[in-house]
Amino acid sequence: MKNIIKSICFIFLSLIFLSQNIFAEEKKKLLTTDWSFKGYFGKFDRASLQRGYQVYAEVCASCHSLKYLSYRNLAEKGGPEFSKEQAKAIAANFEVTDGPNDDGDMFVRPAKLSDKFVNPYQNDKEAMASNGGAYPPDMSVLIKARSGGADYIYSLLLGYEDPPNDVILDEGVYYNKYMYGNMIKMPNPLSDDLIEYNDGTKATEEQMAKDLVTFLAWTAEPHLEARHKIGFKAIIYLIILSILAYFSMKRLWSRVEPEV
Ligand code: HEC
Repeated sequence: MKNIIKSICFIFLSLIFLSQNIFAEEKKKLLTTDWSFKGYFGKFDRASLQRGYQVYAEVCASCHSLKYLSYRNLAEKGGPEFSKEQAKAIAANFEVTDGPNDDGDMFVRPAKLSDKFVNPYQNDKEAMASNGGAYPPDMSVLIKARSGGADYIYSLLLGYEDPPNDVILDEGVYYNKYMYGNMIKMPNPLSDDLIEYNDGTKATEEQMAKDLVTFLAWTAEPHLEARHKIGFKAIIYLIILSILAYFSMKRLWSRVEPEV
């Protein structure tokens, strides 16, 4: 009997060990960086969020939508925290169709804070037709939708390479080390000094990828900072509660004579 239990324990432990090793292997392959928002006390780096928005707006927004975001979110607490005026000015750069007016006609006006981010394409069909049949996914919650999350998207953006000799790529298909199957229908969107950051930071590929991914981590989880704060308070509360419980337990039992 003892032997059976021993072997079951052994098999169980080796399985845990093996599975952890497999996951470690998978994780090891992705690139990573010092994300400001990771960990129990993680917060978004404000300047990085603002730069990340700039990368999205100037590079990715021509193909990828952010349909769950409104312009007012850019000025909200816990996000890039642009001033209200800045967010208004950003919104005013875009046009939305509104209406009907009193004559029953639709009309075009500049976007307001309450409007959702403007989609680069009229519909999914147009998006696919413009991208060789591939659909550029909406980016609002993309970080949550891909295994590997922030590290995966960071790696993907830095993972473009010349294909190995035995791989022949069709027109409009590119080789990427981290894409599933290594083939992607998105040309490498980043290159050094592609944009000029408003705050003067040097726009290397790594910097842009990091800022953009930080921005997407916020769009996917806009309440992360509030959640971390509540978690922290709850832990302090529980610690105080445990100390109180411990002392009241001691006091209650102090009246009971220990048996000898
Ligand atoms: C010229 C249009 C275009 C631009 C600009 C563009 N993308 Fe894409 N992107 C695409 C298309 C098309 C796909 C789908 C590719 C596929 O399925 O093969 C895609 C897919 C992706 C994916 C998903 C990959 C996956 O795992 O399925 C990510 C992440 C991504 N893009 C990030 C970005 C970022 C970040 C930027 C800006 C720095 C950007 N893209 C700019 C067209 C574009």
